[in-house]
Amino acid sequence: MIKPEIQPLHPDFGARILGVTLSGNMAGDTLDFIRQSFEQHSLLCFPEQDLDDEKQLAFTRLLGTPEAEHVRFGQTGEISYFGTVGNIRDDGTSADPANARYQSGNQLWHSDSSFREVPSSFSILHAYEVPQEGGDTEFASMRAGYARLPEALRQRIEPLHVIHDYVFSRSPVAPVNPNHAASLPPVMHPMVRTNPTHGLKNYYVGSHARSIVGLSGIESRQLLDELLEHTTEPDHVLRHAWCPGETVIWDNRCLLHKGSGYDADRWRRRLRQTRVVGDEKGVIHQTPA
Ligand SMILES: [Fe+2]
Repeated sequence: MIKPEIQPLHPDFGARILGVTLSGNMAGDTLDFIRQSFEQHSLLCFPEQDLDDEKQLAFTRLLGTPEAEHVRFGQTGEISYFGTVGNIRDDGTSADPANARYQSGNQLWHSDSSFREVPSSFSILHAYEVPQEGGDTEFASMRAGYARLPEALRQRIEPLHVIHDYVFSRSPVAPVNPNHAASLPPVMHPMVRTNPTHGLKNYYVGSHARSIVGLSGIESRQLLDELLEHTTEPDHVLRHAWCPGETVIWDNRCLLHKGSGYDADRWRRRLRQTRVVGDEKGVIHQTPA
């Protein structure tokens, strides 16, 4: 393997990787390099990739088990491993305004699939068409945020558990289809997660985090908001401006991200996303009647 070049993107996390071609047929040492870099940097950007859906899914399978896209699965039971991000339908025509409204929920800080019983580890997003203005994605690290926390706050959050709830987070933005809602009951995850490779810790919050078990509603909201604000202080945000052909993979176990908006009437935006099922299983939370 010719040694790839690693260009850091932010002091906290993130790296651009040059000299790697993503596909479903990659040498073992290249894949090891990607895995190690991913654990270290949390976000990897690979420019100028010649991907299509078939190649992206094959690459996704090299990283683990692909996750069924939850909207289509929840509404129809149909399994698809792709989500389209942007304002273009799969047939190339413009999507309807309801789709833009639904996707505006992605402009809240979140970790993909934190509301699932088994959240995703990797998200893999490949850009086909991007606006000339806007449409950036912002990222922030809950691992870096944890490292900046005072010791007393680290000890306070260590034993806590958090309820993540898709209907809670998204129904204020756009109606959630009843079948979709029923497929995603609230789940409970530990507040603090430990990376199994290097043992570094992070907390696990974001817009899907509804409440903290055992705290009052107000205490719960205050602490979740405090941790979110702490994570996303402007100096600690990596803002990624997309180029067509770029593939970005990020670690949902420790990063938050959000879209930044764009003029959907003026620009076309189309990216394709796959995800990998993670290793940590939460607990379905039965809300008391
Ligand atoms: Fe997302």
